[in-house]
Amino acid sequence: MSVAAIVPAAGSGDRLGGGIPKAFRLLAGTTLLRRSADAVATSVDLVVVAVPADRRDVDWRNAAVAALEGAACPTRVVAGGASRQASVAAALAVLPPDVDVVLVHDAARPLMPPAVVAAVIAAVRAGAPGVIPALAVTDTLKSVDASGRVLRTVDRTGLVAVQTPQGFRRDVLERAHRADPGVATDDAALVEALGIPVLTVPGDPAGFKITTPYDVVLAEALLGGGR
Ligand code: C5P
Repeated sequence: MSVAAIVPAAGSGDRLGGGIPKAFRLLAGTTLLRRSADAVATSVDLVVVAVPADRRDVDWRNAAVAALEGAACPTRVVAGGASRQASVAAALAVLPPDVDVVLVHDAARPLMPPAVVAAVIAAVRAGAPGVIPALAVTDTLKSVDASGRVLRTVDRTGLVAVQTPQGFRRDVLERAHRADPGVATDDAALVEALGIPVLTVPGDPAGFKITTPYDVVLAEALLGGGR
C-alpha cells in the first residue's frame, strides 16, 4: 500500500500580506511550503504540491522545486487552480497508479507533529474511508448578523475544529472530487456529501493554520523554543 500527500499551496495569502503567495513566505528562514511538506514527507512515499499559476515575472513551479530540494521523499509540483478544491483536484490527477492512500495537508500548517500524521494514516489503513484530525472547541461560539449583532449562542457540545492532514482511501477522495458538490473548505466535506463516514483522530494545537501575521509570530516563537 503506497501513501501520497497532496499539499495545496496555490493560495494567495492575502490575509497574511507580504505580496507573495503564503506558501513561499519564510518562517524562521524556511518557506511554509517546505516546512509543511516536511511535516508529512517522512510518513509518505510521494508529496505532490500544487502551486500558483506562474506570473510573467515569477515561476512558482521552479521556486517550489528549489524549496523542496532534499526532502525526505520524492516530490512533484503541479499548477494549482482558482480554488483550494481545484488545486487538490489538479494534484490528485497526477498520482501514480500504485497510490492507495492520499493525505491532503495545507501548506499553511507547518508545525503539525508527525504523530498526528501517523495516526491519520494508521486509521485509513485500519479501514476508515476518511480520517481528519480534530480539536475540541474552547471558545464560546455565537452566530451574528452582518452588522455584528448576536443572533444566538451556539451550543458547542459536539463541535470540533478540524485540521490537516486529512487522509482518505484514494478511490473515495477521487469519487468525492468528481461529484463536486460546490465549494468546500476541506476535502472531508466532499466525502461527507457522498454520505461516506469520516472519522476523527485527536489533532494537535501545534498544527494551527498560519493565516495572519500573529500566527507567524507564534510559529516563530515555537520554532525558537527548540521545535
Ligand atoms: O486560504 P486558506 O488558508 O484557507 O487555504 C488553505 C490551503 O489551500 C493553503 O495551503 C492554500 O495555499 C491552499 N489553496 C490552494 N489553491 C487555492 C486556494 C488555496 O492550493 N486556489
